[in-house]
Parts: sequence; C-alpha cells; structure tokens
Amino acid sequence: MASFSNPDSTLSYTILRIPVDTSQLIELSAKFRDTKLAALQAEPTGFAVKFEEEILHPLSLWQQRLSAPSTILVCLAEYGVGKGEGTDEERLLAQEWVGMGTIRGPLTYAMFHLPESGQPIPENPELETRWHFCNLYTSAAHRGRGLAKRLNIAALEYAREQTRALEGGDHMKARIRLFMNPEKVWLVNIYKGMEFKEAGKCTLGEAFVANGDAELVPKDTVSSEELRGKWNRRYGLAMERIVEV
Ligand SMILES: CC(C)(COP(=O)(O)OP(=O)(O)OC[C@H]1O[C@@H](n2cnc3c(N)ncnc32)[C@H](O)[C@@H]1OP(=O)(O)O)[C@@H](O)C(=O)NCCC(=O)NCCS
Repeated sequence: MASFSNPDSTLSYTILRIPVDTSQLIELSAKFRDTKLAALQAEPTGFAVKFEEEILHPLSLWQQRLSAPSTILVCLAEYGVGKGEGTDEERLLAQEWVGMGTIRGPLTYAMFHLPESGQPIPENPELETRWHFCNLYTSAAHRGRGLAKRLNIAALEYAREQTRALEGGDHMKARIRLFMNPEKVWLVNIYKGMEFKEAGKCTLGEAFVANGDAELVPKDTVSSEELRGKWNRRYGLAMERIVEV
C-alpha cells in the first residue's frame, strides 16, 4: 500500500489492491465494473475494449477479471477526518476510485511470448518472471498529479514482491510489459522516462488475450478485410522494462 498527500488540501491518495479472498467480492466487482464503465464513457479511445460491448457483460465476468493472474490496483481519494481508517475492503467500498491499473502475472513464457511481435527473446526464461500491465486509467479531475506514475510504480513493486516470494526468486528478475497506442507520443515518452524500452508491435487480438479478455475475441478474425484490419494489424506498441527484485 502506498499513501501520499496533495499538499494543498485534506485530500490524500492511497493505492490498494482489490482483495479476492473477501466476503465482499460481489460489491467490489460491481464497483470495479461501474468505475471502468465510467472511464470508458469518459475516455472512449483510452482502452482496447469499448463501452458498448463492456456494458453487456454479466457481473460474473467482472468478478473473474479480479482473479489470478490479474491483480487490480486502485487509487483511492480520501478526504478529511478519519481518512485511512478501516479495512482495505471498507475503504475500497466507501471511497472514490480515481485511478486503476491491472497487473497480470506471473505468466508462463508460452502465455507471454508473442512470436511474431518482434519482442526480445530472453537469454534464459527460467531466470525471470513475466508480467503484463494494462488498463491504466486516472479520472480527469485528478490528472497531472502523478497518480498514473504511482500506479505504475505500485505495479512494478507488486511484480518484484511476488517474484521475491518464489523459491529462488531472489536471483530472478521481473519483466513487465505493456501495450499502447503509438499515436500517444507523450505517453511513449513518459514510459521511456520510466526506463521502459520499445519491445515490438502487437495486434488487437494479442492485446485482448494479454489483458485477460481472450474470450471476447471473435472466432472469425480473418474472413474479411475489415476483420483482418481490426484484429490482426500489427499496430500497438509494446514496451517493457526488466527490474531487479
Ligand atoms: C494516461 C493517463 C493514465 C495519465 O494519467 P495522469 O494521472 O495524468 O498521469 P501523471 O500525473 O502520473 O503524469 C505522468 C506524466 O505524464 C505527463 N502527462 C500526463 N498526461 C499528459 C498529456 N495528456 N499530455 C502530455 N503529457 C501528459 C505528466 O506531465 C507527467 O510527466 P512528468 O512526470 O514529466 O511530470 C490518463 O491521461 C488517462 O487515464 N488517460 C486515458 C486512458 C489511457 O490513455 N490510458 C493509457 C493506456 S496505455
């Protein structure tokens, strides 16, 4: 958990992970869904998935998205007296979610590697863990305050912590990858500033699978020019960073 204050107010931000071994999983899944749907409405081009499709999913799919290998990081905005009190579940249910990100892993080499993407091939896959970071979002009213950066750092820290906990993990490294729209040059530059390096090109189909949404890829992605262009064009930029644990 990481907490940090906004210097001008009683507002402070905290990043928590959504727990899955909780009796309040249904309520947390519903809040996760509602926050993501609001984000999709506010930012239609910010994600691989679209609001019109996401709103149709049953709550069970949102619940499944909270479970391994996915971990959801939430940035809470907490105000006034009593902020920071209560269990993680109580705080997550009571406070406003102003940022989110998903870290998925550790992933097997077969799940992670995309043979046609041009991504780097590790010397020894046994000596690293593999992670995919996706769905990064902060709400417009709270942007420009470093929250996206904090969510990124929390994801890197989670990958480190989980790797260290593995047998022999102290001697391993963690490889964290993300995909993005290459047109967002400023975002590419931010990640470069955070020591991420360009690591190949992905298709929308590969992005859905990496994000944990394999079941949402249509069975037919090749029978028309339109389908091929949508699902198989190698357009998304992959970036990755390898961290010591
Ligand atoms: C991208 C996004 C997460 C950034 O959130 P944020 O909380 O404003 O980011 P931060 O405050 O942590 O800013 C990090 C850096 O990005 C810069 N930045 C943020 N938004 C920017 C913009 N629109 N244009 C240029 N630079 C920008 C900040 O100045 C900061 O740079 P610095 O470290 O040199 O000061 C947010 O705009 C968003 O949710 N967009 C919609 C969804 C999306 O595109 N997600 C990314 C998917 S890969």
